[in-house]
Amino acid sequence: MTDIRNLINITDLTVAEIDQLIATADDIVENPKDYQSICAHKKLATLFFEPSTRTRLSFEAAMLELGGSILGFSSANSSSAAKGESVSDTIQTVGCYAEIIAMRHPKEGAPIVASQRTTVPIINAGDGGHFHPTQTLTDLLTIKRKKGRLSDMTVGVCGDLKFGRTVHSLIEAMLRYPNVKFVLISPEELQVPDYMKEKMTQAGAQWTEVEKLEDAMGSLDILYMTRVQKERFFNEADYIRLKDSYILDLEKLQAAKEDLTILHPLPRVNEISVEVDKDPRAAYFFQALCGKHIRMALILFLLGIEKKA
Ligand code: CP
Repeated sequence: MTDIRNLINITDLTVAEIDQLIATADDIVENPKDYQSICAHKKLATLFFEPSTRTRLSFEAAMLELGGSILGFSSANSSSAAKGESVSDTIQTVGCYAEIIAMRHPKEGAPIVASQRTTVPIINAGDGGHFHPTQTLTDLLTIKRKKGRLSDMTVGVCGDLKFGRTVHSLIEAMLRYPNVKFVLISPEELQVPDYMKEKMTQAGAQWTEVEKLEDAMGSLDILYMTRVQKERFFNEADYIRLKDSYILDLEKLQAAKEDLTILHPLPRVNEISVEVDKDPRAAYFFQALCGKHIRMALILFLLGIEKKA
């Protein structure tokens, strides 16, 4: 029997495996017929104890486009978690019904606990302020498609860098590619945690911190905007004070490179003005599409299914 592979953190995948997933995602777009029934009779369970639009629906669309089936729940309240059932018991049960599970949970570490309670692959679809590895795969695929490379670039990450799990996972992933520089743009209260700064320093990456987006704009190849997440704050007054720290608009973009790529994991609230959506540098809805392609590739990889030669 082969070892079960899970995806809890982006570093569970080697760089070569990420390259392979990106190649499969591109092949899925080029040769969709080769994949349309490749997961027939396989079931994906999506267990979302926290709200989601893109991650859950792109996983479900991915499995349906592979010819498989889906089951699951979209909130803790519509599962027996509302009656006090533990994550362990939920996972042991769902492992009897599905061949692969994607789960989102507000508690950091919940997917690791889940992976110890079942023999089906567990995909972390976001655990609290910790990690969101399939968003990172989405981001990497989008950057590769837009830039043609994942090395030799300056990446600005902007907004809530303290609680932003998408930012932490993206930095971890891009640290493994040569000559990637980071510009961390946040208010002092929402700076990247110290352990992430230590990781960047230990990896030998160049990084700087600024508070004003304007101070970074002209140097960036990628601008990764994030939302200030209301659900991560203990104090509403702090959220209200910080929520509109950054609003990207066309005026601010005047200082940007012509080939800048603007990303956002979405949902956005106010941090990108809708007037930016029409700018050719805006890539965040293309990014949402890339999320479906890379999740298709990931499902195949974790199930050990390859396209017939
Ligand atoms: N990017 C992302 O995780 O979006 P959802 O919360 O809508 O899944």
